[in-house]
Amino acid sequence: KKTIRDIELKGKKVFVRVDFNVPMKDQTITDETRIQAALPTINELVEKGAIVILASHLGRPKGEVVEELRLTPVANRLSELLGKEVVKTDESYGDTVKAEISKLSEGDVLLLENVRFNAGEEKNDAELAKNYAELADVFVNDAFGAAHRAHASTEGIAHHIPAVSGLLMQKELDVLGKALSNPERPFTAIIGGAKVKDKIGVIENLLEKVDNLIIGGGLAYTFVKALGHEVGLSLLEKDKIELAKSYMEKAKEKGVKFYMPVDVTIADDFSESANIKQVSIEEIPSDWEALDIGPKTAAIYADVIKSSKLVIWNGPMGVFEMDTFAKGTKAVAEALAESQDTYSVIGGGDSAAAVEKFDLADKMSHISTGGGASLEFMEGKELPGVVALNDK
Ligand code: 3PG
Repeated sequence: KKTIRDIELKGKKVFVRVDFNVPMKDQTITDETRIQAALPTINELVEKGAIVILASHLGRPKGEVVEELRLTPVANRLSELLGKEVVKTDESYGDTVKAEISKLSEGDVLLLENVRFNAGEEKNDAELAKNYAELADVFVNDAFGAAHRAHASTEGIAHHIPAVSGLLMQKELDVLGKALSNPERPFTAIIGGAKVKDKIGVIENLLEKVDNLIIGGGLAYTFVKALGHEVGLSLLEKDKIELAKSYMEKAKEKGVKFYMPVDVTIADDFSESANIKQVSIEEIPSDWEALDIGPKTAAIYADVIKSSKLVIWNGPMGVFEMDTFAKGTKAVAEALAESQDTYSVIGGGDSAAAVEKFDLADKMSHISTGGGASLEFMEGKELPGVVALNDK
């Protein structure tokens, strides 16, 4: 794929789709990772004398103006990080915006308003995509986190002007692409999270590629049940038990080592102050629920991680938001952090949040800025925001 390094930028108006969908509380940004991650592209465009027009969504305003979802706090923070003024418009296309852009000089930066205030954005409306394209000479997609969305500012616009990828997009595609197509071995996938339903695609795709598959989190109890054990009040998807069985059989056929919990931390209530016990998976009482993997399991998983050359991790091992049930997720994060010879790829979303929470982010090889996007990539799907790049 062509990137901003392959095209002429000086004096060009460049519409850059970034993913500034950052968590906010009372108009304060609580995690600016995604803003930081976009800086290399923005700085390079500035240095090369482009006129930089940034566009992003924030939250899910569904085509209406929602005051709390304006991008003004992001513009302010970005301005601090760049050490230069960032012009912020209240709209994201049209004559007023064009007038603002015409006042800019080479190296100036402007941030458009939240593109999801436009009804046509998520519908990938062709007229809206044309309106965005009219603002610029070139389209740069650096929003890996939104690349699984075929929206007007991620996909549609690429049909109207030359379109290339930004540096963050390129890095994400490189790392994830290499991991899946030409992995160093032993290659281990750790799949956690609440539901089997959400991980079907990724389990099926990775079963074809990995040496070890580790299962944890709420979805593991459907596998425990598939082995014939009772799971009490733990999460269980009855309609996925047969599927879970088929994955275990498939793993056997393929010679993939399949790891699931041997012990769990159970609680008599879904709360931080619940009574807890550690039991083997054969011993979950009918009125208790498993909320984390147990210490024996954590030790086994840590050993597998440490003997792997490449690990892809998507989804926590337990309810890590509550300290009582964070130990299993923390043990996995620590094993990855300690294992210097293991290249660790952290899928975005919850696993990235967990690594942040344990203050181990700088010990990981790559933390993806995409949650849904990295999941779809690991499922082997093509991302519409990438496919649309015409590389002109
Ligand atoms: C994300 O946070 O995963 C991306 O910004 C995409 O957001 P969305 O799920 O609202 O499309």
